[in-house]
Amino acid sequence: MRSSKPTKSVIIYLSLLLCSISLLFTTSTAQTCTSHTFANNAQFSSCSDLPALNSFLYWTYDANAATANIAFRVTGISTSSNWIAWALNPSGSGMAGAQALVAFQNSTSIQAYTSSVASTAITALTPSALSFQVTNISATTTGTSEMTLFATITPPRTTVNHVWQVGQVSSGAPGAHPLGSANRASVGTIDFLSGQSTAGTATIARLGRKNAHGVINTISWGILMPLGAIIARYMKVFKSADPAWFYIHVTCQFSAYVIGVAGWGTGLKLGSDSPGIVYQTHRNLGIALFCLATLQVFALLLRPKKDHKFRLYWNIYHHCVGYTVLILSIVNIYQGFDHVLQPEEKWKRAYTGIIIALGAIALGLEAFTWIVVLKRKKDNPDKNAHHANGTNGYSNGYTTRTQPAV
Ligand SMILES: *[C@@H]1O[C@H](CO)[C@@H](O)[C@H](O)[C@H]1NC(C)=O
Ligand SMILES: *[C@@H]1O[C@H](CO)[C@@H](O)[C@H](O)[C@H]1NC(C)=O
Repeated sequence: MRSSKPTKSVIIYLSLLLCSISLLFTTSTAQTCTSHTFANNAQFSSCSDLPALNSFLYWTYDANAATANIAFRVTGISTSSNWIAWALNPSGSGMAGAQALVAFQNSTSIQAYTSSVASTAITALTPSALSFQVTNISATTTGTSEMTLFATITPPRTTVNHVWQVGQVSSGAPGAHPLGSANRASVGTIDFLSGQSTAGTATIARLGRKNAHGVINTISWGILMPLGAIIARYMKVFKSADPAWFYIHVTCQFSAYVIGVAGWGTGLKLGSDSPGIVYQTHRNLGIALFCLATLQVFALLLRPKKDHKFRLYWNIYHHCVGYTVLILSIVNIYQGFDHVLQPEEKWKRAYTGIIIALGAIALGLEAFTWIVVLKRKKDNPDKNAHHANGTNGYSNGYTTRTQPAV
């Protein structure tokens, strides 16, 4: 009785969908770097926004020579009274053993030199040679609040711990630095080869949780939910996909909801762990989304039978809330990208690509559905008149569904 053709089409469309998604993940990985241009036109192949002390590291690694041209830039300081330092620590992870490049403004000009830090007990960064070669060390200031160190170094390994610092100049020499949270968070690891710099132990746990929050919520609210909506809207046009589409839709949305609530929970925890930082819009949208999605799940249980006179109103409600959740989810994911996580541009691009692909697929399926429905009407005008589902808004297939009530 049922032809296997529509089932095949469904499978082909779903595979196309998955293919385009995986394609997007692999293609949109273009590297980006901070838009800063140096006054001396110095250029670097990699850069990293360091997680503390308004600091930025730029470097170009020459694998043949095993040298790295680096620039260490600090903003928001007083160039007349602050010193800056950036160091590799080949033997440890903090200050003790750090091989530092130091710069500060002395009475006549800006002075840049190297200093090997023997222990945390030192109170001044006195000039000394480092355990690796440093050439062409210099420093510049931009205005009165920005200082940059330049040097060519021969790092002992391509992946090394690094540490950076800002302190006050006292009696013409760099004095001890403050011990605030930013001064203690300024540690990390740098991989000269891959162009990656990761945050130090102090901030890595929190950054990890923030990333997890971003990934979980993007997948659940941002990808699974729209996918579930597309399945519901376009799969049910195939009579042979009935009632399968319903179960796939429920499974998709329910898993998205469960994963999404877990992601929402990580967001609440992150918020309560940092009372000083409140992302008001992101937070409010998140709470609204949780309420609407929960409503959607419970409304499923209160769904009137398909021939009930209130079913039409339930359908209208279900579509309105459903589409609102989709739109708000996408808006909130971009809020997270732009204001909270600020990940590398490639992640935002990858997500934008996925959303465009889903939109294009929906558009294609919309057109395809119209063709199928119109053809069906033409072939069998009387019998299938009420089958014009998938394209006519709220009646949208619910009237023809045969799956048992949940
Ligand atoms: C200041 O720095 C310059 C450049 O490094 C150096 O030649 C000069 O001796 C320094 N002056 C003092 C007082 O240390
Ligand atoms: C140091 O700078 C000079 C002049 O800018 C340049 O010719 C030289 O190659 C640099 N040395 C290294 C090791 O990069």
